[in-house]
Amino acid sequence: MKTRLPMEREKPLAMECESSSSEQQTLTNPSSSDGADESNHQVMSEIHLGCPPFSSALHISRFTFPCPPVSDVERSRCDGGEIGQNIDLDEDGDLALTRKGRPSSNVRLKIQHKITSSIPRVGLQVWKAELVLADFVLHKMFTSSDFDGVVALELGAGTGLLGIILAHVAKTVFLTDHGYEVLDNCYTNVHLNSQIFGDHQASVYARELDWNNQWPPVPGSSQLSHEERYKFSWSEEEIDEAMGASILLAADVIYSDDLTDALFNTLQSLMSQGFPKVLYLALEKRYNFSLDDLDVVANGYSHFRSYLKNEEELRQLGIRPLRCFVGKRIDYASIPQYIREYNRGNEVEIWQIKYISETN
Ligand SMILES: C[S@@+](CC[C@H](N)C(=O)[O-])C[C@H]1O[C@@H](n2cnc3c(N)ncnc32)[C@H](O)[C@@H]1O
Repeated sequence: MKTRLPMEREKPLAMECESSSSEQQTLTNPSSSDGADESNHQVMSEIHLGCPPFSSALHISRFTFPCPPVSDVERSRCDGGEIGQNIDLDEDGDLALTRKGRPSSNVRLKIQHKITSSIPRVGLQVWKAELVLADFVLHKMFTSSDFDGVVALELGAGTGLLGIILAHVAKTVFLTDHGYEVLDNCYTNVHLNSQIFGDHQASVYARELDWNNQWPPVPGSSQLSHEERYKFSWSEEEIDEAMGASILLAADVIYSDDLTDALFNTLQSLMSQGFPKVLYLALEKRYNFSLDDLDVVANGYSHFRSYLKNEEELRQLGIRPLRCFVGKRIDYASIPQYIREYNRGNEVEIWQIKYISETN
């Protein structure tokens, strides 16, 4: 891995963290307990700056946001369906949503995570791009029916926060990642939050989808042991359902060129089969000093951008490529911050990505 996720220095917002020693037992992997790599190359997400420093234990943080409506009728009760336009902030600068006839209720998500980790286990932390993409998804849930009843799949889901939120309106959500520890922690979070939306919660599955393996998965390709596989492998029916997914999500999955290649390989398989899919990908633009360029450059970002063509430009030039990814950057500046416990900043970009092939 070439790029190191930087240790952030920004001042944190107050965030409630609590040690979860009892939950630690849920995160056991005899074959990959914290080894040498865990101790020598630790990284920390700025999201966890309010948590106790130097702790290698698991923590539970709470993330608060107004409860999204579940139907057009409920949506129209949220300020006449114009939440995107009628935003009120309270004296602390938090979003204050009012619903006709009743006060808006808040949801408090509980997310188990580590405060620092080695790079192979960054999925045990919550990263800023996940929260920015969650705000984008929440805004869609408040202002449109775009995500109502969808089948969605998140790649590199980490703690599962985003998919757990989407499950409020979706039909099915597949939270995918690789490695037992990350998958098992994601599974724990799904269960910690299984009641937060009452009856309005889709089926949520934590499933193994390693970008270095084939999609759809072939028996025997998993890196997991026999017992671990039992918990996180796909049934035939689930694969069929995932093929029919219309929404793909991915947050903070662009940080090494090799991984980006593997990710786009997987995306090509996912997006060229089954139902047409739209990917919403959020990434943090990370700058590093490059000895090759003798300058501060965003190498990982350039590599990511090299995969995308501009649909509008292609149309203007009259070019219809046989197969390619087309990407459009989404301006989310006017979208309110629904989730309280982070500083949004402006380093995260959201991209809408589609795959064009002869068949679509
Ligand atoms: C920086 S973390 C982001 C996690 C989460 N989306 C977030 O933003 O909080 C990158 C994620 O990509 C996952 N990942 C890395 N390599 C992968 C691979 N080969 N296959 C599947 N997932 C992978 C990691 O396990 C991790 O969950």
